[in-house]
Amino acid sequence: MADGPTIAFSPYAMPAAGVLIVFCDDALKLGAATRGLLGATAALVARAAAADRFKGKSGTTLDLVAPGNLKVARLVVIGCGKPADMTRKDFVKLGGVAMGKVPSSAAAATIVAELPNKAMTAEQATALALGARLRGYAFDRYKTKRKDDDEAPRGVKVDIGVADPARTRAAWSARGGLADAVLITRDLINEPANVLYPAEFARRTTALKRLGVAVDVLDVPAMKRLGMNALLGVGQGSAHDSRLVVMRWNGAKRDVPPLAFIGKGVCFDTGGISIKPAANMEDMKGDMAGAACVVGLMHALAARKAKVNAIGAIGLVENMPDGKAQRPGDIVTTMAGQTIEIINTDAEGRLVLADVLHYVASKYKPKFMIDLATLTGAIMVALGQQYAGLFSNDDKLAERLVKAGEATGERVWRMPLGPEYDKMIDSRFADMKNTGGRWGGAITAAQLLARFVGKTPWAHLDIAGTALGSPQTEVNKSWSSGWGVQLLDQLVEDYYER
Ligand code: BES
Ligand code: MN
Ligand code: ZN
Repeated sequence: MADGPTIAFSPYAMPAAGVLIVFCDDALKLGAATRGLLGATAALVARAAAADRFKGKSGTTLDLVAPGNLKVARLVVIGCGKPADMTRKDFVKLGGVAMGKVPSSAAAATIVAELPNKAMTAEQATALALGARLRGYAFDRYKTKRKDDDEAPRGVKVDIGVADPARTRAAWSARGGLADAVLITRDLINEPANVLYPAEFARRTTALKRLGVAVDVLDVPAMKRLGMNALLGVGQGSAHDSRLVVMRWNGAKRDVPPLAFIGKGVCFDTGGISIKPAANMEDMKGDMAGAACVVGLMHALAARKAKVNAIGAIGLVENMPDGKAQRPGDIVTTMAGQTIEIINTDAEGRLVLADVLHYVASKYKPKFMIDLATLTGAIMVALGQQYAGLFSNDDKLAERLVKAGEATGERVWRMPLGPEYDKMIDSRFADMKNTGGRWGGAITAAQLLARFVGKTPWAHLDIAGTALGSPQTEVNKSWSSGWGVQLLDQLVEDYYER
């Protein structure tokens, strides 16, 4: 991970150098502590705002260089519109806006976490800190030369001034792990496939042991014994052996059924024998984004000692064309005993997930299963990059995911499932085939998964649109946003910890 900003919380104070960042509302009102710190310069802000037509709208900024008689090099005023309307995700965004105002040359920045009418709470200030960490991330480990202008500042110290430093630090020690979690996920997705192949991915997950997560890695012989021939068929054309990683966090009583999170971990997807065209194939290094999200989520839950039992299971394979690769027409017998005819070797994610879903459902009897997968191009056609596709056999789980999506900004849109779609994957030669024809491609992919979840409440998130080449936002300037970690952490906290 790049050396993003380091965060500290202190009492409100005037720094002697660097950048000072303060907030105002859409009446240009500053908080009492902020006015106290600025002294005579507060009047200068009003004049500069008028000259710049700065109205304090949410997310807009006003820059003052060498302001008045302050020692700081730069004063930045950030508008927060109508503070009464702000929710947690708005504070995360403001933290991103603030971090975006810290030039890469800056050694230090001070953010005064105060609203015009009151100090920010510990929860709001830590949301600000999360936004700053997310914005400060850059995947630059393979850049041997630094450019000063276009990259996130390295190793900058961000001091956040708050009314109650002790409480805020306590809140951050509980929730700061979420920032690490998202950045771990981004790092895994951004990493190229020559570095991050299944065994190396599995090795990296063992870092979770330090947080008290049990990590079991199953190799090819272990998976053969279990009969995971659908997963193994995808990986058999690769020089890199497949792995299955199961991560377990026990934060509740032993007998409480776990929440289960399952990730597609195709470390590279060439399409196999049904090979993909060359254009944009490099993006397929990110075809393990679902698995990366599950790893990040396990980190987040363990870091804050979430009071739940949780399983993270990821199927790690590489889909390559080779003399040993599987062919169209091949028929594989899954661990569940159902057979699948391979029509297109590029529809590989569902094959991996079929075995992992069945394994988790039968072995752990979870309260629910949620899988994440960069599964289909079709979901991008349907929803673009703003919503992930949500498919579920359980209305309550689906509704909760929608709500957690609205709260975090990682939004999901429910898509249909049903017998008419299910019929489309019946096969002439086997129990089913791995593609359902031209129409409704994201749905027929989900229907195949549905055949492997039994009666377990289940939701499938097709994140092909949201996880890769992610929209650039105030809190993400990276190719991968680490989509889904915040969504699922919020879901667990809001609905499963009491
Ligand atoms: N990993 C791809 C889906 C994908 C495409 C993710 C673009 C992110 C960006 C998946 O394995 C795939 O190739 N799906 C095929 C399925 C088809 C062969 C039925 C697709 O969507 O075209
Ligand atoms: Mn594919
Ligand atoms: Zn794929």
